[in-house]
Amino acid sequence: MKILLDRQSARPLYLQIRDRVQRLIRSGALQPGSRLPSIRALAREIRVSPLTVTEAYGMLEGDDLVYAQPGSGYFVRVPPAEVPAATSAFAPAQTVIIQEPQQSGFCEQFTASSQLQARPDLIDFSSGFPHLGEQKDFARLARRAVSQSKDTLLRYGLPQGQPILRQQITQLLVQQGLAVAPEQLLITNGSQQGLALAMQYYLKPGDWVIVESPTYHGAIALLETLGARIVGIPMQADGINLTLLEQYLHSHRPRLIYTISTLHNPTGITTPSDHRQQLIAIANRYDCLVLEDNAYEGLHFEPVPPPLKAFDPHDRVTYVGTFSKTLMPGLRVGYLVAPEAHRQGLLRQMLLHDFHVATLSQAVVSEYLATGYYRRHLDRLRMQNRQNRDRMLQALSQHFPDGTTWTIPQGGFFLWVHLPEPFPIQRISQAALQQGVLIACGSAFFPKQQGYPALRLNFSLPPEEIVKGIAILGRLLQQHRIAALRPDRASNSERKRYRVR
Ligand SMILES: Cc1ncc(COP(=O)(O)O)c(C=O)c1O
Repeated sequence: MKILLDRQSARPLYLQIRDRVQRLIRSGALQPGSRLPSIRALAREIRVSPLTVTEAYGMLEGDDLVYAQPGSGYFVRVPPAEVPAATSAFAPAQTVIIQEPQQSGFCEQFTASSQLQARPDLIDFSSGFPHLGEQKDFARLARRAVSQSKDTLLRYGLPQGQPILRQQITQLLVQQGLAVAPEQLLITNGSQQGLALAMQYYLKPGDWVIVESPTYHGAIALLETLGARIVGIPMQADGINLTLLEQYLHSHRPRLIYTISTLHNPTGITTPSDHRQQLIAIANRYDCLVLEDNAYEGLHFEPVPPPLKAFDPHDRVTYVGTFSKTLMPGLRVGYLVAPEAHRQGLLRQMLLHDFHVATLSQAVVSEYLATGYYRRHLDRLRMQNRQNRDRMLQALSQHFPDGTTWTIPQGGFFLWVHLPEPFPIQRISQAALQQGVLIACGSAFFPKQQGYPALRLNFSLPPEEIVKGIAILGRLLQQHRIAALRPDRASNSERKRYRVR
């Protein structure tokens, strides 16, 4: 990298360095992914202080042209893909679904998909965690965590979780607009345990519970196990349909509303502040508890409102969060913010179930937070997810059948893709698997697994896998569509293009 400085110029040296690197990147002389010289090496070469180079690199990072990889240096960022003008929209399910107590096959499906997701040869659009690649700093941070907390690792810990971690999570929540004290927090084994504790504590068999339709299938399965009766109220582009919500609160007097207000699983939708306020006001009117699942918090790449719990003057919202979606699901560290009236009850529930979350996992998360690594890692992850979302949107509009619509999420890593006609999605998913692509079928996310022509696609994959996988899926959908047409209605060129016999 050749950098000539004009030492007579009034333009400061760090700006000259930034200008030059900018030009090299924009002209293509520095390719995406290539590494910039280290700060020390460049400073030596062009005879400036390392601080001057640090300042220039920092500005390039702010310009979104490069990113820092801790321990490895600065790299040229991949430019955002051209996103086609969106014809995109959310297609809401039309009907309320009532589910009397029943068991679905969630546990069997979870085990089967975990086995498939472990196969490195598959392009995996189905999983519910980010594909982070290698976490280079994990071993180092874990070693530090062990050496710094040896004493606590040798004993049982506190049922509510280690004080330092609770303090650190409180700070994260304050940054999101949710002011809570460490005493209100309970560390859980992932947010799944938070959901399970809360549902077990609040519900008895036969209670009515309202969920969004579609929603996270792991929550539906928990409610089924508890013998709850479920009302699935359709999601709309701005969140649960509030008119229907109020109607069913009036007619069924449910005990609990389960909701994912931010970066909803599976649709990716984030509800606006006024929707949150109205939901809380309705819950207050009918004295109904609310369980807020904020599993995708921190993953927004566009601004999102504060959590629902921040709009909760009467302390009726129980809030769960997790590090599974931002760091590693295998650590099993999540947390729950309990309403004052239920704090002791939920703590007791935790103690009887599990004593506490492994202190080693807590210490590792704590180390990520204390060193600032978590902050930097999240910034990188968000940026990467945004680029991958745009790549997937581009590929979808290129390969999927006309009339397909999709959501454009403000973060997280799910797109909800609604197909224009009732394709046999299970069959297409089997055919996709044979070609090395794994997808999550939309119907899995509805109470009663009601059939629905949609897919949930995880876009946190390497760009080349996104492009290849979406092309395969698009071809399968087009083949099916043409094969289903009367022979005289498909043109020869279409048959040839999609290899339909
Ligand atoms: C909405 C939602 N809540 C909770 C969970 C459970 O995650 P964990 O227990 O790993 O924190 C998931 C996992 O997919 C999820 O999508």
